[in-house]
Amino acid sequence: MCGIVGFTGRENALPILIKGLYSLEYRGYDSAGVAAFTKDGLRVVKARGRIANLEEKIKEEGGDMYCTCGIGHTRWATHGEPSDRNSHPHLGGKGKVAVVHNGIIENYKELRERLEAHGYEFKSETDTETVAHLVDYLHTGKQEDLAKTVLQAVQRLRGSYALGVVSMDNTQEIVAARRGNPLVIGIGEGENMIASDITAIINRTKRYIILDDNEVAIVRPDSVVVMNEFGDTVEKEIMTVTWDMSAAEKGGYQHFMLKEIMEQPKAVADTVKPRIKNDAVVFEDNGLTDERLREIEHIHIIGCGSALHAGMVGKRVIEAMCRIRCTAEVASEFRYENPIIGKKDMCIVISQSGETADTLAAMRLAKQAGAFTIAIVNVVSSTIAREADGVLYTWAGPEISVATTKAYSAQLSALYLISVKIARVRGLISIGDERALCAELQRLPECIEQTLKCQSDMQRIATLYANRSSVFFLGRGLDYAAALEASLKLKEISYIHSEAYAAGELKHGTISLIEEGTLVVALATQPALFEKTVSNIREVVARGASVVLVTTDDFTGDESVCQHIVRLPKCLYEFSASLSIIPMQLLAYYIAVERNCDVDKPRNLAKSVTVE
Ligand code: AGP
Ligand code: GLU
Repeated sequence: MCGIVGFTGRENALPILIKGLYSLEYRGYDSAGVAAFTKDGLRVVKARGRIANLEEKIKEEGGDMYCTCGIGHTRWATHGEPSDRNSHPHLGGKGKVAVVHNGIIENYKELRERLEAHGYEFKSETDTETVAHLVDYLHTGKQEDLAKTVLQAVQRLRGSYALGVVSMDNTQEIVAARRGNPLVIGIGEGENMIASDITAIINRTKRYIILDDNEVAIVRPDSVVVMNEFGDTVEKEIMTVTWDMSAAEKGGYQHFMLKEIMEQPKAVADTVKPRIKNDAVVFEDNGLTDERLREIEHIHIIGCGSALHAGMVGKRVIEAMCRIRCTAEVASEFRYENPIIGKKDMCIVISQSGETADTLAAMRLAKQAGAFTIAIVNVVSSTIAREADGVLYTWAGPEISVATTKAYSAQLSALYLISVKIARVRGLISIGDERALCAELQRLPECIEQTLKCQSDMQRIATLYANRSSVFFLGRGLDYAAALEASLKLKEISYIHSEAYAAGELKHGTISLIEEGTLVVALATQPALFEKTVSNIREVVARGASVVLVTTDDFTGDESVCQHIVRLPKCLYEFSASLSIIPMQLLAYYIAVERNCDVDKPRNLAKSVTVE
C-alpha cells in the first residue's frame, strides 16, 4: 500500500524525499506528494499519478522547495479516488500540521463529523485528513508537544496506520507513529529518516530501527526518541541492512520483473543451500524441532495471492510426502471463518513482504488458538517474521516488481525443505531417500537455469497471442496449483482476462467460454496424469482452442493436438512446479511488454498490501 518517507538533516531534503519516493513507488502509484518547510513556510505539493507528475508540478510551481526537513507519500487509494486533492500529505487546521499516512482509519466518519462540528473544513474524501485535523485540534502549540499530541490522537483512531507528522512549531522534527503498518527509522550522521521500508533509506544509511505497534517516535537531525503508548521512552535495537542498493536496481534489464525472473536460480540456491548439511535438511533456531514435527496433526498453510498459490503447491507436496492433512487457506477468509485450529496444528504463513494485513491477522489468530506458527518470509524483520513462533527466510533479496517471481520460487523451495524434513522425522522416508531428495533440491537452481533457456520461445509465443482477450490455464494436481499462479501472473500485468482450472473441471461449465482461437495453456508435468490432461486438451481443441502445452521430456502423448510445446528439464515430479512456472512467468512478461503495459507497476495494484 502507500509508501511514506521523511527526512530531517542538514542537506536539501527534497531530492532525498523524491528519491525515497521512487524506491517506494511499488507500494502505490495513484498519486505522490511532499510537504516541506521552505522559506515560505510549510509547503505542500501533490499530484495525481506517478512521481514524475509530482516533479513536474514542483517545477511548474517555481521549483524552489529547498528545505532540510520534509515528508513524502506515494499513494494506493483506499478512501477517495486517486486525485490531486485526495493525495497526501494532508494539512490539518489552517495548514500548521501536515500528515502522511499508510493504512485505514476505520472510524474516520465519526471523527470527521466531530471535527466538522468544531469548524474544521475537509478538503478531501480521505480517511487520512481526519488525522491531520485531529492532531491540529489536540495540538497545544508548545514545541515539545507534537509527539504527545500524536500519541493522544492515535488513541482515538481505530484501524491501522503508519504516520509521518510535521508541524510548523518545530521545522526540524518529524513525528512517526505506527499500528499495523510498517515503519522504519533510518539512523544517519546528523540526519535521520522515516520510511515504509528500508529501500527508501538505504542510499543514506544502512542503520535502522523498526518501529513497533503503538510506538511514537520523535525524529530530529541529531536524535531519535521512541516512546511507547504510555509516553515512556523505550530503548530500540539498531539493525543493519545487509544488502546494498545494487540489489534493488535494474542492472541493465528493461524491467525489474525480467531481472527477478532471471535471478530465480540464485534465490532458490540461497534459500536451499544453507539448510542442507551432510545430505539432510537442517533447521536452526526456527522452532521446527523433531519433537514438534512428530506431533503435528494438521498443517494450515496461509497466504494471499501468489503466496497462497505457493501454499497450494506446498499442500500437495506435503500431503504426498508426509501424509499429514494439510490445507492451503486464503488468509482473508481464514481470519473471519472461525477456523478449527488445535494445539497440535502447525500454521505455515507465507508472505514475501511479511506485512500483508490479512496474512498477519490470520497468523495472530492461529497463534492465539495455540497453533505453532512458522513464517516463510522474504523481508527480514518484517512484522510477520517478528511475530511468528519461527521463521524460515526466503533469501530472494529485495523484490521490486509488483508481480512476484523470485520470492514465489524461493517460497516453493522453503516448502519442499519443510516437507522433506517432516517426512524424515516421521519415518516416512529413509536416510537414503532424504539424501536423494536433498540432492534433487540442490540441483533445482540448475534446472531452473536450464528452463530459463525457453526465454526466446516464450517471447515468440507471446507475440502470437498478445492480442487475445481471454486465456485459460489447465492442470491437474501440482499442475493445477501452478496454473493458478500462471494465470495470476498473466492477468495482473497484461490485463488479459484469464482463469486457471483443474483440467477435469472445465467441462462442468467454463468450457462454454472456449471458442475459435481461445488460448489454452495446459500444464502436464505429472506422468501419471498425462493421458487425462491430454483428453482435456482434446476437449478444448475440438472447440477451436489454440493450445500451448508445458510438459516434461517424459511426455510421449500426441503432440499434434497442440500448437506449441514447451519441454522442461528433468527434475523430481514433486518439485516440478518450480520449473513449469518459469515459462509461464516469461509468457506473462512478454505479453505485457507486447501490450505496452507498465510491467513492474500494473494498474490498481501495490506490492505490499497492508490494508484488508
Ligand atoms: C503476486 O504477483 C501479487 N502481486 C500478490 O498476489 C502477492 O503475492 C500478495 O499480495 C501477497 O503478498 P505477500 O507475499 O507480500 O504477502
Ligand atoms: N487510507 C489512505 C488513503 O486512502 C491511505 C491508503 C493506504 O495506505 O493504502 O489515502
